[in-house]
Amino acid sequence: MNFTLTAPRIHSICLIIIFLSLFSPLSDSNQFCDAGIGYSESTCGVASKILLKGGTVVNAHHQEVADVYIEDGIIVAVQSNILVGDGVKIIDATGKYVMPGGIDPHTHLAMEFMGTETIDDFFSGQAAALAGGTTMHIDFIIPVNGSLSAGYEAYVKKAKKSCMDYGFHMAITKWDETVSREMEIMVKDKGINSFKFFMAYKGSLMISDELLIEGFKKCKSLGALAMVHAENGDAVFEGQKRMIELGITGPEGHALSRPPALEGEATSRAIRLAGFVNSPLYVVHVMSIDAMEEIAKARKSGQKVIGEPVVSGLVLDDSALWDPHFQTAAKYVMSPPIRAPGHGKALQAALSTGVLQLVGTDHCTFNSTQKALGIDDFRKIPNGVNGLEERMHLVWDTMVVSGQISVTDFVRVTSTECARIFNIYPRKGAILVGSDADIIILNPNSSFEISSKTHHSRTDTNVYEGRKGKGKVEVTIAGGKVVWENDELKIVPGDGKYVKMAPFNYLFDGIEKADSEYLSSLRAPVIRSKQTS
Ligand code: URP
Ligand code: ZN
Ligand code: ZN
Repeated sequence: MNFTLTAPRIHSICLIIIFLSLFSPLSDSNQFCDAGIGYSESTCGVASKILLKGGTVVNAHHQEVADVYIEDGIIVAVQSNILVGDGVKIIDATGKYVMPGGIDPHTHLAMEFMGTETIDDFFSGQAAALAGGTTMHIDFIIPVNGSLSAGYEAYVKKAKKSCMDYGFHMAITKWDETVSREMEIMVKDKGINSFKFFMAYKGSLMISDELLIEGFKKCKSLGALAMVHAENGDAVFEGQKRMIELGITGPEGHALSRPPALEGEATSRAIRLAGFVNSPLYVVHVMSIDAMEEIAKARKSGQKVIGEPVVSGLVLDDSALWDPHFQTAAKYVMSPPIRAPGHGKALQAALSTGVLQLVGTDHCTFNSTQKALGIDDFRKIPNGVNGLEERMHLVWDTMVVSGQISVTDFVRVTSTECARIFNIYPRKGAILVGSDADIIILNPNSSFEISSKTHHSRTDTNVYEGRKGKGKVEVTIAGGKVVWENDELKIVPGDGKYVKMAPFNYLFDGIEKADSEYLSSLRAPVIRSKQTS
């Protein structure tokens, strides 16, 4: 018996799963199967064999018409006219694109933030992702009272119910010897190869420049990638006070209090400090022309800086923040803010020309009740928007259908580049023999429409409500199993695997050479004779 999920059912199923996970010592996956809620062999651990026939197989470097054969969760063959025997599920992909599943580099599932917790956990968020063609994501662990190991343990628990593969970044929120030692453990033992530094959220996550420099140095020595949330937190704090004094307490005050200049300043500062230490840098959620131009300038000068736009920044503008209806406006509150018209178009152009490299979501969902925490004061509106389910469709429609990027570029910016940066390529991000069978089939002639009524996230709103476009993910295969087909999910909590990520990605190539060139350029110390008079 196959277990199928449609959007409304997923919510009640989640409750059942949580109940079961509380009272059974077995793994989530086994609980689900043993409970007799419904499963098939193929969804509960027995290997499935799948042949994708006649599609256009797209990698970041190449596309060709070919068949793809999958066994035991791994791609076994990519060639024309593959013949198979009985017991193989055959999916006709003629006239469609067969591509690596999306990898979202930036999510916040079950994150405690601003006095509440994001409404999508590792099951509902991943269900949404799979329905939208994303088969892996990298979530940010928030330390517990500054402790990385406590944060790690908490997220291991949260992620137990995963139904697709995932990895972790780790935030650094304070600095001392213990944190420095724990960073080493995270990299060497736990498979974490990136650390995020928040330059904003004064009073909670924000760190100082001193910490930023220590952190960059430590990252460099470990071969871990330093990531920044780049906004000047002190100036944002001042901007917030200014808005409140002016009597601007609604969601529009959020955007007005943290203008693009503050994002540009922090981006420039982080880039210059990373340059000073000679460590690679990854700027998350690039939302403005100001920040993007700093990245462009640094890359032009040869600095190793990665810029990640998020789908909300690419396709939305800030106009809804002025909506008279609080709930409508509040759902768009995120940081850095969604910008005025013009910024999104410029970010699209930067993505299409390689100034920015990959697209994330910053999926960080709160429902209307949670957003209402800031009904009288925009500073209390939990920051974050949805995007995990929508990213692939919106990037396809906005960038490929419009002719701004090619189909191979689509694969690069939604999957392959993320796999390269976080050192999991070609296991992920490719349709090659030996790669994980995380695959989507996208029909370019089909269409999509986004609505909170049909999406799989637990939130009751959607910042892309009503958007329609061309191109639809008709099939998602994750870990070698068909998990999305005919608009239905077939997912099992516990099926997702934690993907360890090794340090020293390609950005670290040549770092030592640059260090020794720097040292030999110093022409110092100058030897001076000590003169007494
Ligand atoms: O508004 C946002 N971006 N919420 C998530 C936390 C972060 O800054 O990434
Ligand atoms: Zn951030
Ligand atoms: Zn984020």
